[in-house]
Amino acid sequence: MSGLNLVSEPNVAWPSNGLSEVPFRIYTDPAQYALEQQRIFQGPTWNYLCLTAELPHAGDYVATTVGEAAVVATRDMAGNINAFVNRCAHRGNLLCFEQRGNVKEISCIYHGWTYDLQGRLTGVAFEHGVKRQGGMPPEFHKEEHHLRRVRVAEIAGLVFGTFDPDAPDLETYLGPDVCGGIRRVLNRPVTLLGRSTQVLPNNWKLYFENVKDTYHASILHLFLTTFRINRLSQPGGIWIADNGGNHFSQAKMDYAAEDADYKAAALRADSEFRLRDPSVIESIDEYGDSVSVQILTIFPGMVLQQIRNTIAIRVLRPRGVDRSELDWIHLGFAGDDEAMTERRLRQGNLVGAAGFISMEDGCVGGFVQRALHYDDDGSGIVMMGGHDAQSQPFRATEAAIRGFWKQYRALTGA
Ligand code: FES
Ligand SMILES: [Fe+2]
Repeated sequence: MSGLNLVSEPNVAWPSNGLSEVPFRIYTDPAQYALEQQRIFQGPTWNYLCLTAELPHAGDYVATTVGEAAVVATRDMAGNINAFVNRCAHRGNLLCFEQRGNVKEISCIYHGWTYDLQGRLTGVAFEHGVKRQGGMPPEFHKEEHHLRRVRVAEIAGLVFGTFDPDAPDLETYLGPDVCGGIRRVLNRPVTLLGRSTQVLPNNWKLYFENVKDTYHASILHLFLTTFRINRLSQPGGIWIADNGGNHFSQAKMDYAAEDADYKAAALRADSEFRLRDPSVIESIDEYGDSVSVQILTIFPGMVLQQIRNTIAIRVLRPRGVDRSELDWIHLGFAGDDEAMTERRLRQGNLVGAAGFISMEDGCVGGFVQRALHYDDDGSGIVMMGGHDAQSQPFRATEAAIRGFWKQYRALTGA
């Protein structure tokens, strides 16, 4: 951490104490990036680790990252979930190389030190030397060299971790509205349908803002407008947690009317483009509440999406000041029949790296980053829908982006 301590003071000047102007240098400054690792990702935030469904058995583990720190989540012999850094206490070697697996203990390939599934150091090769020569000195005690623990908590089958022992408990951190938004979508045991990772050529914050940006959806994404799928005039709204950083937006639609609309549109010739096969958007109201889109974010880097019948988790991983990785984890539910699985997979074409309604999000952040490479003076404007970060019963607003900056500024001291 000593390298990070060099940047313990905010480095980028803000034009005001408000939330509606964001300095462009916040996306380009390497010292700011290091400060974020320290104050946000190692700070009092809850970060998505994995699904409980990925750790069904004792000995199961998932290797992941929190910010740029390598972390392992495990299911121990008592059935509890633990997490700790994926870094050997001896010389710092990476312990788990595979993304997932099942082990009785964790052993380091370098000098063979072993740890139990709670990250406690259990074995040191040649601890007492060979033939009474060498070995560890008497002042070395294994119990002083356990792996650095990460606090874990679960909600609706999602496992989160925090490095900060003083972080508020998970549900307090999420806020009641966002907890409700999570439980609405993940209301039964999930199954994993697939996953993919895309590299984003931009600062992590540009993507997280994009997900909170309800303003752009029907403008940037031509698929939505061309095929008249998403309009800002649809009933819906935005719910923002008190801390600002967690939110969800919802849009409702009349599923039956859309179906009729598409059948009618197929007969009309007033548009140059039409979906020859509208099955890619054919969807059913599986929650019975007419909500066709719910996008939910958890600061600093997780998204839970319900876009019609595609349910997915996105995990945003900073990988340098101008590079990020975005994991897509596609979910179904244990009770899905074959037709439903087929429907989810077909609609899965809407999202992901090449998704009909998400491919632009994968490059627009890179376009911003390119422009900032030439000039990062000044500030961007985030005033749509006002200046604060309150929940609003409409979506022509940037309130959720302001919420992001509210929590960001509180944590970084900016
Ligand atoms: S670095 Fe792990 S045992 Fe030496
Ligand atoms: Fe988008």
